[in-house]
Amino acid sequence: MSAPAYESLLPLGAEAVDLLFREARSASRFTDEPVSDGQLAAIWDLVRCGPTAFNEQPLRMVVVRSAAGRTRLARHLHGQNRDRAAGAPLSLVLAADLDFHRELPALYPGAQPLFDYMDTLTREQRRETALANTWLQIGYLIVGVRAAGLAAGPMSGYDNAALDRDFFPDGRWESLLVLNVGRALPKSYDRLPRLGYEQVSRTC
Ligand SMILES: Cc1cc2nc3c(=O)[nH]c(=O)nc-3n(C[C@H](O)[C@H](O)[C@H](O)COP(=O)(O)O)c2cc1C
Repeated sequence: MSAPAYESLLPLGAEAVDLLFREARSASRFTDEPVSDGQLAAIWDLVRCGPTAFNEQPLRMVVVRSAAGRTRLARHLHGQNRDRAAGAPLSLVLAADLDFHRELPALYPGAQPLFDYMDTLTREQRRETALANTWLQIGYLIVGVRAAGLAAGPMSGYDNAALDRDFFPDGRWESLLVLNVGRALPKSYDRLPRLGYEQVSRTC
C-alpha cells in the first residue's frame, strides 16, 4: 500500500509503519531461516505491554518446533493449512487460559475481591472475557512478530475441539488460533481491499 497524504500525522516514521502495517502481509510461505527462542522472548516482551481488561493477560501459547510436535499439530489442520505449517520454522498454538484469574492477585493491585468473585465462577462463565482478551493479545502478537522483522501466518482453519482434546486435555486452555512464524517469502497476490475510514466510522 502506498504512503498516503496523511504521512506527516504518523510520528512513528514511514519505515516502521511499513514494517508493522503497510508492507506486512499474512504469510503462507516462509524461508528456511529459523526463529530462535530469543526472538520469541523479545517479541513477547513487546506484546505483553498491550492492554487487557483488569490486566488479566489470558493469552498462552505452545511453541511447536519439533518433528513430533509438527506431526501432532498437522493432524488437526484443515486443507492447505497443513502445508503452510509444514513450511514454517515454527507454529504457535495460541490459547486462552480459562483460569487466568489465578494470576490476577499478582497482576492487578487490589484484585483480591475480583479474584475471589472470579473463583466462584465456572470456566464457562469466565470464558467470554478470557476469549475477548486473548484475541486482543493475539492482535498485539501479530504486530509484535512484525516488529521483529518476521511475518505471521494466522490460521483458524483447524479442528478446534480435536486440537484442544489433544493439547489441552485438562480443559484449562482453549485454543483460538494457530500462528505460523518466520521470515516470509513474497506473496503471489496483492493485498485484498480494505475498508476506508468513511466506511467504518460514524461521528456523533
Ligand atoms: C483470525 C484469522 C484466521 C485466519 N485463518 C486462516 C486460515 O485458516 N488459512 C489461511 O490460509 N489464512 C488464514 N488467515 C489469513 C487471512 O486470510 C489474511 O490475514 C487476510 O486475507 C489478509 O491478508 P494480508 O494480511 O496478506 O493482507 C486468517 C487470518 C486471521 C486474522
